[in-house]
Amino acid sequence: MNKERDLCWLKKPVSQGIASFCITGSHSTKRTETLIREVPLLFEGIKETDQNDADILFWKTEDASFFQEGYGIERDGNRYVVKAFTEQGLLYGMFGLYRLLVTGKTEFPYVSIPDQSIRMINHWDNFDGSIERGYAGESVYYEDNHFRGDLDLIRQYARLLCSVGINAISINNVNVHQMETYFIEPEYLTEIKKISDVFRQYGIRTFLSINYASPMSIDGLETADPLSAEVRQWWKKTVAKIYGVIPDFAGFVVKADSEGRPGPFTYGRNHDEGANMLAEAVAPYGGIIIWRCFVYNCKQDWRDRSLDRAKAAYDIFLELDGKFADNVILQIKNGPIDFQIREPHSPLFGALKKTNQMLEFQITQEYTGHQIDICYLIPMWKETLDFDTKYPGDSVIKHVLGDNSSNRSLSGIAAVGSVGMDSNWTGNKLSQANLYGYGRLIWNNDASAEEIAREWVRLTFQLSSEGEGKLTDILMTSRKTYEDYTCPLSVGFMCKPKLHYGPDVDGYEYDSWGTYHYADRNGLGRDRTKATGTAYTFQYSQERAEEYENLSSCPDEYLLFFHHVPYTHRLHSGKTVIQHIYDTHFAGVKKVEEYQKIWESLREQLDAESYENVKERLKRQLENAVNWRDQINTYFYRKSGIPDEKGRTVYE
Ligand code: GCU
Repeated sequence: MNKERDLCWLKKPVSQGIASFCITGSHSTKRTETLIREVPLLFEGIKETDQNDADILFWKTEDASFFQEGYGIERDGNRYVVKAFTEQGLLYGMFGLYRLLVTGKTEFPYVSIPDQSIRMINHWDNFDGSIERGYAGESVYYEDNHFRGDLDLIRQYARLLCSVGINAISINNVNVHQMETYFIEPEYLTEIKKISDVFRQYGIRTFLSINYASPMSIDGLETADPLSAEVRQWWKKTVAKIYGVIPDFAGFVVKADSEGRPGPFTYGRNHDEGANMLAEAVAPYGGIIIWRCFVYNCKQDWRDRSLDRAKAAYDIFLELDGKFADNVILQIKNGPIDFQIREPHSPLFGALKKTNQMLEFQITQEYTGHQIDICYLIPMWKETLDFDTKYPGDSVIKHVLGDNSSNRSLSGIAAVGSVGMDSNWTGNKLSQANLYGYGRLIWNNDASAEEIAREWVRLTFQLSSEGEGKLTDILMTSRKTYEDYTCPLSVGFMCKPKLHYGPDVDGYEYDSWGTYHYADRNGLGRDRTKATGTAYTFQYSQERAEEYENLSSCPDEYLLFFHHVPYTHRLHSGKTVIQHIYDTHFAGVKKVEEYQKIWESLREQLDAESYENVKERLKRQLENAVNWRDQINTYFYRKSGIPDEKGRTVYE
């Protein structure tokens, strides 16, 4: 039997003193209908009334200072006045007012304008219902090679996304397999239109991921060469058909020349040529091409130490800066490798100066615990956004995204989605905090991770203030905890190949993926220095390059990403590398045991379903953490022969 779906952070309708509302200003579209439908879901028993009596007045003003999506809330006597320049702004204002009232933040006037223009989620969902790197059940869109067609479910999801400010979505896997290649054909587009119609009501624009070789796969053309006249024509015709069905279709997301996907390199062309050809096809309709920079050689020879996967994106894309069409956006993963729990930032940020750009995070917990282990990711994303790349001028990443784009409205942030058919959407109930937090953070880049965690806890549970503090504390420490038992000093990729959960220290070591720790009897880490390694460090601004190049200034947390050091190397923290490994692994497990106790202590205050859900996950998290601790510690003890100075159990 299908359990009722969790309303997540929208489950506490406000009633006190709010009985009526009115929408004023010019309005007549579908989105006003959304507002009229949504208000009673958030404000219990509320009725529409005329302007003079309304407890909430939604006022579409001529005040353009709110821009397209911002809003303001004022208190006028006993009434709340939500003001915005657009209906979309009013919708965000409605969710904003709800949030402020439920969390008890009642200091008005309140103004909120999003910091990033595009705020997107990428779904890696396949037509057969599976989700690449999905940990919360099957796809909400597809099932067994057909469209699930549950538009009410999509509406519930759209509502959740809108409530945290998401305004764009792509609904199929970036690895576009045979079946999904056909999504750009009319037969499928009519179904996709139904989905995009729902998202549109919430101000969310729909994109599709495409297969770069579609002209070959769909119509048997001999090439997908972007400079072939026949190929260009094919795309123009195809795009015209798409817009015939979905007139406001947002555009394509493209993973090209990456992990076996075809792309311009396959036909001897460069990525600007590849992207611009598609851009030309969608431009007449206002379409956008989101072109991923996750391009690297995944068939490396581990014996060849001169190769460095981390360098690939910068090597390929920096020289193309300024050469992309106006409606192309480059989408860049936060780190140079692949969503590890600890990576330095991608060197493309700050360096790319004349190209529309988006940052890509991953909400789904591929390398961060599979939504079994608790791992609140906002502190990590915040570090990226606040990071100063140290180029001349304002070079903090959150600013660079818009400032260095040729068109600010074509810049922003995307993240790989985390939801599925599980009734609580995210598998682990606490993983909802990452979805919520993602939206909140990319809307307001200056919000603190803790503020967002507190907000989510308050909106989601009915806890005493002490209980709220305890749960917030679990969330706030959980990223470090996961890092402690899986990824010492940014070494990364010691997980099970393919699965990416659980330890397998040498799982990737002699493989072709380019992710090696190079542990030997003397030490470990990847030497990426200019002096003796791959010279990756010099893809950064001069100041950052020097910081990372030199052992004396390289931050401990990035040490093994940039340097190969002996186990006896002393960190800035004062510990040796080997002792750090032992200590963090013991500490990580201890922390999970503490989480279990805290969770247990909250039992009386939690609903049974949430309690059991997280309890069960914590049990598995503890098993996982113990496994990591024992395997990592034993492995490095055996390699180094250096015992734990505190004499704890390390296996011979
Ligand atoms: C990771 C992930 C893949 C995914 C890829 C991508 O490598 O493991 O499943 O396809 O990222 O971002 O395209």
